[in-house]
Amino acid sequence: TGLITLDPGFKNTGSCESAITFLDGEKGILRYRGYAIEELAEKADFLEVAYLLIFGELPNAQQLEKFHSDIKAESHVDEEMKKILDGFPKSAHPMGVLSSLTSALIAFNPSSVNVSSEQAMYHAIVRLLAKFPVLVAWTLRKKMGLPLDYGDDSLGYVENIHKMMFKKPNREYTKNPVAIEALDKLLILHADHEQNCSTSTVRMVGSSHAGLFASISAGISALWGPLHGGANMAVLDMLEAISADGGDTKKYMAKAKDKDDPFRLMGFGHRVYKNFDPRAKIIKKAADEVLSSLGVEDPILEVARGLEREALEDPYFVERKLYPNVDFYSGIIYRALGIPVDMFTVMFALGRLPGWIAQYREMRLNGEPIGRPRQVYVGANHRPFKALSAR
Ligand code: CMC
Repeated sequence: TGLITLDPGFKNTGSCESAITFLDGEKGILRYRGYAIEELAEKADFLEVAYLLIFGELPNAQQLEKFHSDIKAESHVDEEMKKILDGFPKSAHPMGVLSSLTSALIAFNPSSVNVSSEQAMYHAIVRLLAKFPVLVAWTLRKKMGLPLDYGDDSLGYVENIHKMMFKKPNREYTKNPVAIEALDKLLILHADHEQNCSTSTVRMVGSSHAGLFASISAGISALWGPLHGGANMAVLDMLEAISADGGDTKKYMAKAKDKDDPFRLMGFGHRVYKNFDPRAKIIKKAADEVLSSLGVEDPILEVARGLEREALEDPYFVERKLYPNVDFYSGIIYRALGIPVDMFTVMFALGRLPGWIAQYREMRLNGEPIGRPRQVYVGANHRPFKALSAR
């Protein structure tokens, strides 16, 4: 084992070279393909950002139009898939449903598995970008007891997603520009974040040349956990609990600092950002704007502001460089948009989809070897077998 360096959690180990996302945790910089996240969130839409991440350049009008129409041409999901969804109880966690449905899609699109030509890769990508939002909408609609619909090809990519999620059977769908813009922005902010846990999972699974859909289904499972994407649900649960407990933020600050208490302040801290999370800055502003334009007054926002204020001044948080991360405020917006708490991580997955796709494609195009870390063995030395009767 002399040559093996132990690095649990890969805190200091680079797993690949990548030209997709640049992140400087000390300075709080995040760029997709060289473009600042602040500018993209302000000026681009989610589909343009998806194209940028996956193919490396912002699309011109013609490229974007072709990309969108290729996606629209694939936006149906086999009717048989509804039977699979039907098999889940309504209480099933949406992340489990989504990862299962994403895996099940392979059975209905077997040609998506072999992506060895650029054309086959493109086709698999477009199919996933088309069908995944339908799965997300179905997951939500099943939960809410609404009929399972398909999209509307005359709409923009995100507007269509919004309609697929919220269209009521007995009511005309009316466009809500504030909600759609907020959703678009949130999806952009979540679209990629270099080699985080779920993205590393996608690349690791894909490194065995498993197909795109299977690799992304694994990424969804990785995102599920509360230390990663599941944090956005955990934040809301925490804010609600504090609010129900009389809004005593100081009490929860003390719990978070107590090393004998497993409670952590959800939505605080980040493996890489040690100064601030640039996404959190954008999202905080967006949350204020969305809530005021939708006329929502959410008492939870007061709790959130209180925690943030206290944490930014508290030596425990300051010394450990624990700042609010992207998920601290995203849940407040999702809630204002009428998305149930246990769908929050699904929304994160929807946003992260282009990033996962871009990383999978880059890994395959670079011809990276199969991922296979080593270990430092600390188990028993060689010992003789003991017969069952002698144990
Ligand atoms: N509340 C209280 N203490 C904390 C927190 C927190 N949220 N986060 C870290 N610490 C403490 C931790 O106890 C440790 O203290 P000590 O040095 O005394 O042992 C120190 O800060 C370093 O923490 P760590 O767990 O070693 O850091 P990490 O890089 O392994 O973990 C993290 C990063 C994000 C998992 C962690 O900060 C955390 O659990 N945060 C809460 C969950 C969360 O918000 N996750 C979302 C991350 S952003 C979205 C995404 O990319 O998925």
